[in-house]
Amino acid sequence: MIQKSFVMMKPDAVARRLMGKILSRFEEKGLQIIGVKLMQIDEELAKTHYGEHADKPFFDDLVKYITSSPSLAMVIKGEDAISTIRKMVGATNPLEADLGTIRGDYAMDTGRNIIHASDSPESAEREISLFFDEDEICEYSIVD
Ligand code: CMP
Repeated sequence: MIQKSFVMMKPDAVARRLMGKILSRFEEKGLQIIGVKLMQIDEELAKTHYGEHADKPFFDDLVKYITSSPSLAMVIKGEDAISTIRKMVGATNPLEADLGTIRGDYAMDTGRNIIHASDSPESAEREISLFFDEDEICEYSIVD
């Protein structure tokens, strides 16, 4: 099934100049980037996005980290995009993420794990509408 996922390169990915490499992985896989926005996430948006973790001990640090410098928000489309991207991203703890995954290759620390990707169709829909207006998403044909 063709799906859309919300994917976000976190502040460390942007600051470490990994944006191009990570974007290339998704394009080379055959997924389609249909929305991209470099943005400074404010505290309110960070708290809404990560609302399900509000009672976790790491919540304050997570909000501080996500708002510390710009992130790259994306909408990525393709066949089974949500599970395909989760596989490409790897486990939450980068030390448990397989080599060859984005976190496995580029990160060392759960609190600085480079990238976020929606974990279900419901969260994809919620997260896409939280970060993007409809007119910021561009549908176009791809040439294989
Ligand atoms: P993400 O996939 O964006 O979703 C929730 C985030 O919370 C997760 O990536 C991590 O960045 C963060 N997180 C999850 N568990 C921990 C933890 N034990 N310590 C610090 N941060 C965590």
